[in-house]
Amino acid sequence: MTNSESLVNHFKAHHHRATALAHPNIAFIKYWGNSHEALRLPANPSLSMNLAGLQTVTTVTFSDDFAADDLIINEQRLIGPRLERVTAVLDLIRMQAGLHMPARVESVNSFPAGAGIASSASAFAALALAGAAAAGLDLDEADLSRLARRGSGSASRSVPAGFCQWLPGSDESSVATSIAPPEHWDLRDVIVIVSQVHKAVGSSGGHRLASTSSLQSARLAGAEARLAACRKALLARDLAAMGPVVEEDAIMMHAVMMTSHPPLYYLEPATMAIIHAVMQWRDEGIPVYFTIDAGPNVHLMCEAAHGEDLRTRAGQLPGVQQIIVSGPGGPARLI
Ligand code: PMV
Repeated sequence: MTNSESLVNHFKAHHHRATALAHPNIAFIKYWGNSHEALRLPANPSLSMNLAGLQTVTTVTFSDDFAADDLIINEQRLIGPRLERVTAVLDLIRMQAGLHMPARVESVNSFPAGAGIASSASAFAALALAGAAAAGLDLDEADLSRLARRGSGSASRSVPAGFCQWLPGSDESSVATSIAPPEHWDLRDVIVIVSQVHKAVGSSGGHRLASTSSLQSARLAGAEARLAACRKALLARDLAAMGPVVEEDAIMMHAVMMTSHPPLYYLEPATMAIIHAVMQWRDEGIPVYFTIDAGPNVHLMCEAAHGEDLRTRAGQLPGVQQIIVSGPGGPARLI
């Protein structure tokens, strides 16, 4: 055996590596609040669309040569709570695989850091898939969605393709499934970025506060009906029926946020200006609706034919820093 051959054999015996890609997603019916925090079981069902063109690519390498887990995002080594959150998911994988090696996790986001697009969904979906494959686990889509969920709730919805629904339930049953493939409907998400500032309270802290708002019970009481209405309209490609439900659901989430103790204000003046512009554009006959996550940026929902017009219009509004246009994306996959 040559020297390089023995090195290769050593690598194969002691390293296990896989790379996966996943898209972030935008929720039309929002997840806000957990019924079980550690298991990340959601207080309500949610529904989203994966975002094509935006992606996280993650490589997981398990090796005896490493002293401890290592997390590198966009070429920056991270420690502390972010590493601990990744280690928690790696521990689940190691437990299932009976593996005891530390891992190196290298992750690259294609979308600009701090552009207000949450990377936790794509990051934990890619981590679940790459980690499971590297550990030699043969997991199906439901298993991977469940695993991704433990890292970030919304990540469960970035595992299947296209338009995904995530139902509450038990640790076993609470997984996301695709209700329609990306080809079902050429929707656009025109992402209007008004701030790149990192949010003071992230979603993990936010979920914990949800139940401190007296509005959360009202939001939860109607969530199932909104999901059913949204799903029906989505399957019928009926934007006029879907849009108002999506807007109401987002605003109900923000009402809960603003009435939590302590309150969470994510909306900014530029956010409100875009909401008013959307209403005016609708009056002018353009079918466009908005949704907003845990941040000030606004996602405009429209059909493909209006995407570029809305990009131009939104670009003329005050305070807009950047616009990204995306459409329905595929599932998390190994590359
Ligand atoms: O997955 P998390 O814990 O980052 O929560 C996501 C919360 C929202 O983006 C605000 C809503 C959602 O359903 O994606």
